[in-house]
Amino acid sequence: VATDIARSAGSELAAVAARQAARAATFARSLGIPRSYGTYTELVTDAEVDIIYVATTHAQHYEHALLALAAGKHLLLEKPFTLTAQKARHVIATARAADLFCMEAMWMRMHPLIRQAHDITRAGHIGNVLGVHADLSHRVAYDPNHRLFDPAVGGGALLDLGVYPAHLAWMFLGRPDSLHADASFAPTGVDTAITMRWNYKDGRVATLTASLLTDHSPGLVVTGSRGRIVIPSPIQVPTQMTVTTGEAETTSRARLPGNGYGPQITEVERRIQAGETASPLAPLDDTAAVLDMLDHARRQIGLGYPEQ
Ligand SMILES: NC(=O)c1ccc[n+]([C@@H]2O[C@H](COP(=O)([O-])OP(=O)(O)OC[C@H]3O[C@@H](n4cnc5c(N)ncnc54)[C@H](OP(=O)(O)O)[C@@H]3O)[C@@H](O)[C@H]2O)c1
Repeated sequence: VATDIARSAGSELAAVAARQAARAATFARSLGIPRSYGTYTELVTDAEVDIIYVATTHAQHYEHALLALAAGKHLLLEKPFTLTAQKARHVIATARAADLFCMEAMWMRMHPLIRQAHDITRAGHIGNVLGVHADLSHRVAYDPNHRLFDPAVGGGALLDLGVYPAHLAWMFLGRPDSLHADASFAPTGVDTAITMRWNYKDGRVATLTASLLTDHSPGLVVTGSRGRIVIPSPIQVPTQMTVTTGEAETTSRARLPGNGYGPQITEVERRIQAGETASPLAPLDDTAAVLDMLDHARRQIGLGYPEQ
């Protein structure tokens, strides 16, 4: 993310912090960042900093978000925004009360192909949206010390990967009438693979999966009454989308420069320059609502976190 911020004309990497000053200094040197700090508090009180990008482990997002907002800084907070919807709503309310910009770094929602897919469905080009199948999987070898397997920092497939398919289901279908979740677990207790089914009384359905056990992901399919949209993996930064309506099939491609975070960075710049405190491309109410769904799924699979 930092290299993409550095290449953006509207942003400047002003400072970086880590819990060890030497690590922050090494990172700063590697990217030509002028200042580095050995505490997060020093970073948020740097008068030259306008916005803090929080990319710490999930369970620490809440504390670090509030630290940035308390210091009067705008906030871009990595996904999942917080461990729970309740904590998300507290961060959102704090940002709104302070009139500061705040957004979940759900970069997928700013991707041109995902935006195009959303526009196509809203315009009714594939008829009524009836179903969403979405998966994000990424194989990570089991290591109890890795953040993804550590309950203390919010490990597991659902929060790290499943949050993307959940955002897609929310974008295309909205709040379900019921949700059913099943999971498998690592010896540390976090979920290694999860399936969620979101059911709607009118027959619509979302099947959402996320796994730390495989790199082979089927991607995204949005099914409508008159067509479908297929976006192959990786759904968080897609390169291709095929839209089928009747006999017609159109394929669009996108290759973003750098690591693909450009549209998110530009969106943040645009909103802050315009004096706006949120982005309609990643609405804060969606962030909290998606976390409601993940809370619900975690209750069903019996997964809680010490920090919760
Ligand atoms: N948008 C994306 O494409 C994307 C991709 C990967 C990850 N992420 C998100 O970014 C966040 C970080 O992921 P990552 O893979 O970069 O994780 P990571 O390599 O483990 O780094 C997390 C950082 O969190 C900091 N930290 C603060 N308090 C901590 C604590 N109590 N325990 C452990 N670390 C703590 C550490 O910083 P210091 O020690 O330096 O202070 C560490 O460098 C996650 O929320 C993840 O969801 C987003």
